[in-house]
Amino acid sequence: MKREIITTSDGSVTIYLPEIKETYHSRFGAIQEAYHVFIKNGLALTESEPVAILEIGFGTGLNAFITYLESKKNNQQIKYTGIEAYPIPKNEILQLNYITELNAEHERAAFEQLHNCKWEQEVNVSAIFTLCKQQQRFEDVVSVNSYDLIYFDAFGYHAQPELWSTAIFKKMFTALKSGGILVTYACRTSIKKAMEEAGFTTEKLPGPPGKREMLRAVKL
Ligand SMILES: C[S@@+](CC[C@H](N)C(=O)[O-])C[C@H]1O[C@@H](n2cnc3c(N)ncnc32)[C@H](O)[C@@H]1O
Repeated sequence: MKREIITTSDGSVTIYLPEIKETYHSRFGAIQEAYHVFIKNGLALTESEPVAILEIGFGTGLNAFITYLESKKNNQQIKYTGIEAYPIPKNEILQLNYITELNAEHERAAFEQLHNCKWEQEVNVSAIFTLCKQQQRFEDVVSVNSYDLIYFDAFGYHAQPELWSTAIFKKMFTALKSGGILVTYACRTSIKKAMEEAGFTTEKLPGPPGKREMLRAVKL
């Protein structure tokens, strides 16, 4: 499938797949979206220590990188698991401008480690941030009561409707600990309904710039 690196409205880049008209992040701002959806409405609200995070769609590593930066800023211990079936190629990693856009030149080694570390192995990116990347399909996630927070960052409903189904959200519900939360950029009513059928209590929240709403789901 053809792939292009494009620049989003906040200056940060993302990957565009023209054949399915899908981007890895919002065209209105990749970094802005990541902070709004996953940090402000997810990580910032979790009180457990360490916080066990499951990311559905490791992709460019942007969410992992900003979460790493937050862990450092707030001295918050994080155990991060990133699921990804189709890791992005090296030449694309080299074109990602997140270090510059986040003024994080001093964290270049950490960003590189996020990408270069082995799959299926837990690595210490810092004394308080561990990463385990798992190369597998979302459909095959079988964790039970393991996570405090899920970043649900699959491609959009129009591209992969099967990933926004009750069956997948049941897997997410099972993977979360009691009181755990799932956040996603999407807000479609059918997605909210699928989450509720899986057992979640849901709420619509204001979305990031350019998007009206997003969803947060809680396992009560
Ligand atoms: C929206 S992008 C993720 C963006 C990512 N969170 C980031 O910050 O770059 C969705 C990701 O899901 C991956 N993906 C798509 N279908 C998948 C599947 N069935 N199982 C696992 N990964 C899948 C894609 O390769 C892509 O990296």
